[in-house]
Amino acid sequence: MNKLFLTIIAITAMLTGCGRTPSTTVSSPNGKISLNFQVTEEGTMLYEVQVNNKPFILPSRLGFEEQTGMVLANYFDVMGVEFDKEDETWTQPWGENKTIRNKYNEMVVHLSSIDANLTMRFRLFDDGLGFRYEYGYATDGSTLLLTDELTEFNFAQNGVSWSIAADFDTYELPYRTLPIDQVEDANTPITMKTEDGVYASIHEAALVDFPEMTLVKKGNMGFKSNLAHWPDGVKARIEGGTFVTPWRTIQIANEAVGLINSALILNLNEPCAIEGDLSWIRPMKYVGIWWGMHLGIESWVMGDRHGATTQNVKKYIDFAAANNIDAVLAEGWNQGWEGWGDPSQVPFSYTKPYADFDMEELARYAAEKGVELIGHHETSGHIDNYEQQMEEAFAWSKSLGINNIKTGYAGGITGGQQHHNQFMVRHYRKVVERAAAHRLSINAHEPIKPTGIRRTYPNMMSAEGARGMEWNAWSEGNPPHHHVLLPFTRLLAGPMDYTPGVFDILFEKTRNLPQRKKWNPQDKGNSRVNTTLAKQVANWVVLYSPVQMASDLVEHYEGHPCFQFFRDFDPDSDWSEALQGEPGEFIALVRRAKENFFLGATTNQEARTLTIPLDFLKEGITYKAIIYADGDDADWESNPLEYKIVERQVASTDTLTVAMAKGGGQAVSFVPVE
Ligand code: NOJ
Ligand code: CA
Repeated sequence: MNKLFLTIIAITAMLTGCGRTPSTTVSSPNGKISLNFQVTEEGTMLYEVQVNNKPFILPSRLGFEEQTGMVLANYFDVMGVEFDKEDETWTQPWGENKTIRNKYNEMVVHLSSIDANLTMRFRLFDDGLGFRYEYGYATDGSTLLLTDELTEFNFAQNGVSWSIAADFDTYELPYRTLPIDQVEDANTPITMKTEDGVYASIHEAALVDFPEMTLVKKGNMGFKSNLAHWPDGVKARIEGGTFVTPWRTIQIANEAVGLINSALILNLNEPCAIEGDLSWIRPMKYVGIWWGMHLGIESWVMGDRHGATTQNVKKYIDFAAANNIDAVLAEGWNQGWEGWGDPSQVPFSYTKPYADFDMEELARYAAEKGVELIGHHETSGHIDNYEQQMEEAFAWSKSLGINNIKTGYAGGITGGQQHHNQFMVRHYRKVVERAAAHRLSINAHEPIKPTGIRRTYPNMMSAEGARGMEWNAWSEGNPPHHHVLLPFTRLLAGPMDYTPGVFDILFEKTRNLPQRKKWNPQDKGNSRVNTTLAKQVANWVVLYSPVQMASDLVEHYEGHPCFQFFRDFDPDSDWSEALQGEPGEFIALVRRAKENFFLGATTNQEARTLTIPLDFLKEGITYKAIIYADGDDADWESNPLEYKIVERQVASTDTLTVAMAKGGGQAVSFVPVE
């Protein structure tokens, strides 16, 4: 680590004048963002932020409340302040970018009260800031019970915001576009654009052994932290003499795409904790026995309509082997689906396949074809049942050549716990750590939201944590603006297993099949995918996941010219850049994987044309560009299937005109010409 040092101990120097309370400031390396911390005469802690020399966050409170009366918010005295700075470059085994620069200025304020020693650690980057609390407290050994976090974010200006409502059990909620002062509560990341045109997103980094933070309205344009809680209402149980909170983060940029190009969340996480060879952690493309169940033409339960039969899985393995797809997921392979959603039934087994699913034979067959199987562990929220079987199930899966497990928590968490409280944050973490011990990667559905843990545990590869493709199968579906909001909100937190790539947009091939049964109460029989076909292709680039699923039935891909993009796509990107975009409106993004580039552009319900300079391509090289575009008369609502494929030779000096239909998009692969 190439650490530059600058430490100034400034105990008395920071008292900025007689009669004033202690106040101290730190700025981002480029000087555009600055944060001031002060303690009032009552010993209450406040911070404020300026962006481009204008107030951005007005004085906002810091601190915690505790059940037995420990004072963690007031009566603090500043004991000292230290400054430091960092400028290093680190690498990760996979990611949007494999090489990341971590450059910040740090201000560490040491405080003391009757009950606690506290260090407030502030880090200012050019792309935002993070701060966290590091408490040591006077204790008789009993557990500290945090009942409230007082952290506030008081915006100086109104503006527009994009978020989902706060909910401690689900993130699968529709996005809302609201003035900042109209947001009653929100989950993070919540993204906003202030009247001055500054883009910002509030989230958290390194959420470990703590409840998730949501925001609740406080004052006119302010928010306060509202943590998920245990069944008894306590928010965090702290054992031992000290605790460190997750980082509270504010990503800040002058352009909306700057938020996407920021690595602040990863930079505020700990380095990789997995030792030795990491080659078992590999980005991959997959297909699976999955969409058929959501459409209602197959079942998870064994019976006439069972999806995960040996024969059907072999068909998927054959398709994967023939089409440059790395892996096959099979849901409904294991015993216990009869009781899904019914707490009185026997819960799932993770080592006992249904009788018509021959695991040994499929493992052998997949290996012979050079394809991996992906395991599936739906817990339905039965945490004890899962934890009891986890070790054995992980070892057994690994012995069958499985490297990747999709987990699921579709159901209420047993014991009155909530998906996002401290109990579950501990559970999700335990799964990742134990999976790492067995050299398995995790793709969690109904997860805890990503907070950059993938840096420390790169086997934490992808997660759901927003409305994904499944909603299109059985509900009113995800509207056209959803896919151009996700990159500016949920995806700022980390990769998402959205599972894009449905080609039978209108369900013409399945809606009237005699075996179709409505299984989801939301199904009104008129569901469909609310995009054009080209947008489905483009979403493979736009909605980043290192494990990317072509989610349609493989028979809908057979012979389809657009599937060539998925064949060619390399999920193991080295470098990425969001080029243009506005939340909820449009986005254009490019990724490089080895010598090839992949561009994805998508729009909301408006048709639009983007002009994209190809200056990201390597100079002096000619590329074959295969363009998967909306047809001239395409329209997500009335004509979603029309597309055209155009081939051109291009170079870095060229400009691409990207015309997108209403609810449409465009995907382009660029391969160097020999
Ligand atoms: C919800 C998950 O998001 C989905 O992908 C899965 O098919 C079902 N649960 C069943 O596990
Ligand atoms: Ca889900």
